[in-house]
Amino acid sequence: MEIVDKISLKYLTERRNKVNTKDPEDYGESALTHFLHNNKNGVSSFFKEDAISFTQEALQQLKPKEEISYEIAHKALQTDLFAPIEVPFLAVKKPKFQFIDLFAGIGGFRLAFQNLGGKCVFTSEWDKEAKRTYLTNFGELPFGDITKEKTKSFIPDGFEVLCAGFPCQAFSIAGKRGGFDDTRGTLFFDVAEIIKRKQPKAFFLENVKGLRSHDKGRTLETILYVLRNDLGYFVPDPQILNAKDYGVPQNRERIFIVGFHPSTGIDSFNYPKPIDKTVSFADVKEADVVPTKYYLSTQYLKTLEEHKARHASKGNGFGFEVIADNGIANAVVCGGMGRERNLVFDNRITDFNPTTKIKGEVNRDGIRKMTPREWARLQGFPDEFIIPVADASAYKQFGNSVAVPAIQATARELLKTLKFI
Ligand SMILES: C[S@@+](CC[C@H](N)C(=O)[O-])C[C@H]1O[C@@H](n2cnc3c(N)ncnc32)[C@H](O)[C@@H]1O
Repeated sequence: MEIVDKISLKYLTERRNKVNTKDPEDYGESALTHFLHNNKNGVSSFFKEDAISFTQEALQQLKPKEEISYEIAHKALQTDLFAPIEVPFLAVKKPKFQFIDLFAGIGGFRLAFQNLGGKCVFTSEWDKEAKRTYLTNFGELPFGDITKEKTKSFIPDGFEVLCAGFPCQAFSIAGKRGGFDDTRGTLFFDVAEIIKRKQPKAFFLENVKGLRSHDKGRTLETILYVLRNDLGYFVPDPQILNAKDYGVPQNRERIFIVGFHPSTGIDSFNYPKPIDKTVSFADVKEADVVPTKYYLSTQYLKTLEEHKARHASKGNGFGFEVIADNGIANAVVCGGMGRERNLVFDNRITDFNPTTKIKGEVNRDGIRKMTPREWARLQGFPDEFIIPVADASAYKQFGNSVAVPAIQATARELLKTLKFI
């Protein structure tokens, strides 16, 4: 078979997915995109076999009358069959180090480490919609469930930094000294296991502030015990950083844990100092917001007010706040009433015809929800970051993500300590 024209990867994948029902155990497209991104840096062998099989299957569907052998597919891949993927955040040309991105979400860690000259050589995220956002922006489809041995088998050797914003879970240590085996069955176990197998020079873990007090402090204690005693890394005391101290108008506290391999000889580390920059919501506010999408109806605003009053009297629960232009937002979070926690006042409402219906009449006070782009900006994602998903998914993804500037400031210190930059 002669393959003359370049094939668009997107075209091929869409065509294939139309034919096959999407199999969650399907590693082909992830392997192919990872292969294409790593064909000149010595790690492509980890993805090669599955990338060829995927290409074979996809080409066969494209050319049903011809027989596409494994060899043909292999040759096709070697001859740059695929047109270059156009994405806003391409890998750096001459990387200073390699890293892997676990629990990748939409790639907040990746953005930060890529900005500092790193090359991502493996990524894993199992949420379908988050994967779509990731692929659209970085051109690489994350592998899925990281607890699966098959997924782990794709992780290349020799990368320098492991990044993971893993979900927080309790360990059933039942009074024992919390060690590696006691964490089995949790996602931290998988992170620790990958560190143990691959021995990266450093890691950077991120979690909610509540990790400190989770299970009366036992969860964090176990994590540190495993990282320090079982894995032998130098792990300075974890630090809580607030996104607002690193250039975005969001009050978001998260715990950061970094560690250095014993072979580095590193035995001290300083987390970054807050930067001297005042920012407020006005800096991220969108100018042209679609009224019917984001302004609240009078009725809904009333419901929120009543809800807030009811819970305030009990001293707990949900409360929204109207963020002033010169104020800063509460942490953006997904789930529950996360989207309604931060409302904004937008006096453009005065130009807006109040008879337009938004499930009832629009409120006259100019109160609206923040937009997904505003959430992106609150997390420090640049405007080139494409939001390819529906609003509901976008809020979830940015709420789950990280404040990129705080991650980047810490990553810079970590890489300076390692003398990579
Ligand atoms: C707190 S978020 C991390 C977000 C990420 N740091 C970012 O910048 O967007 C945790 C992510 O882990 C993913 N996740 C949870 N369990 C997983 C698993 N077993 N395998 C792969 N991803 C998983 C979730 O879907 C979620 O997106």
